[in-house]
Amino acid sequence: MSINELEVPGLGTTWLVTGLEEGRAVLADPRLSRDERKAPDALRAFAHNHRADMSMGRHLLDEDPPDHTRLRGLIKKAFTPRRVENLRPRAQEITDALLDGLSGEVDLIDALAFPLPMTIMCELLGLPEADRADFRIWGAELAMGMDPTADRATVEHGGKALRAYFENLVAHIDVDDRPSDEQPDLTRALIRAGRMSHDELVSMLMLLLLAGHSTTVNLISNGMLALMTNPAQFALLRERPDLLPQAVEELVRHDGPLQVSLPRHTLEDVEISGVTIPAGSMVSVVVSAANRDASRFDDPDRLDITRADNQHLGFGHGVHFCVGAALARMEAQVAIGSLVSRFPNIRLAVTDLRWEVNPMLRALVSLPVRLG
Ligand code: HEM
Repeated sequence: MSINELEVPGLGTTWLVTGLEEGRAVLADPRLSRDERKAPDALRAFAHNHRADMSMGRHLLDEDPPDHTRLRGLIKKAFTPRRVENLRPRAQEITDALLDGLSGEVDLIDALAFPLPMTIMCELLGLPEADRADFRIWGAELAMGMDPTADRATVEHGGKALRAYFENLVAHIDVDDRPSDEQPDLTRALIRAGRMSHDELVSMLMLLLLAGHSTTVNLISNGMLALMTNPAQFALLRERPDLLPQAVEELVRHDGPLQVSLPRHTLEDVEISGVTIPAGSMVSVVVSAANRDASRFDDPDRLDITRADNQHLGFGHGVHFCVGAALARMEAQVAIGSLVSRFPNIRLAVTDLRWEVNPMLRALVSLPVRLG
């Protein structure tokens, strides 16, 4: 059965969807809402407390149309495949600078998987290089919010610090401080457009900074882990760099960053594949299971970088489909392509890898490798 009920302490029943077609149906169905203000009390309180812990206001992932459409419309042009392609040479330059001179044993997350997406996101948002170390600490503190046993004070610290940072930035920024022939950064463009409340603006900036780097770090690191542990696929990619876009897609499917979608709730009774989910139920799609649905993918546990027709759910589906998917794909292609071509003998330097305690993200604590 690919739709199952599960009892979650403090929340009641939640429905987990593990099939690919059922997951796609759930994510595209307007009768399932992300707006907790329309949810039953227990769910509303849960979402509200989570947001309060993170000092996060309302942002596009928490809105249904029409507010969602308005907020997404303000940023989507910055992340179109064409705009992202223009960033590829810069991503390559950053990657080359990070990899030049590396040798021996390194943590691939510190060396490349973290700094590449973080640098690109900071440049897009116009944030100073000197602040990146703080973003890493606050981001890690916030990510602990996904671990129910984590210290709430630490999570709150990360949220408060990041919020204060953007409040301060917005209060003091000079929106015209750019040569007139230069494209304003996204922060200035959003302020100039003036179509968001103050709270929406700060929440949007927090979301973009967090969503714009944390998941991509995991795509690069999980992807390299999958290739190093499948040497034939590694060798094939080295021989045929033209397979890179297809390979990255397969790495998202096979062991991508996101394990489970954000929860939705049903606004009315909803029938999916013969199962009726009652109104007011919480529903999550287990993306990692759907992406290995044997009825949809041949030999689903096998990493196959030549896999065609790879319609996975790793970037979600429907109106909330990841707005940064083109950027994440491009960064992963540059990072993984460069590592495979420059370090043909790269291999794991440890046998026991540690993973973060995070039910949503599949995230390595570190990825020690020997570059060879
Ligand atoms: C939404 C995955 C990179 C920004 C989503 C969703 C998924 C996802 C699954 C939908 C969540 C849901 O519906 O429950 C990923 C993965 C990434 C990645 C796997 C990297 C490999 C990025 C990047 C950005 C970004 C680089 C930078 C802009 C967003 C935003 C949303 C989103 C703003 C909300 C979209 C909306 O509500 O309309 N992402 N993402 N993501 N992602 Fe990504």
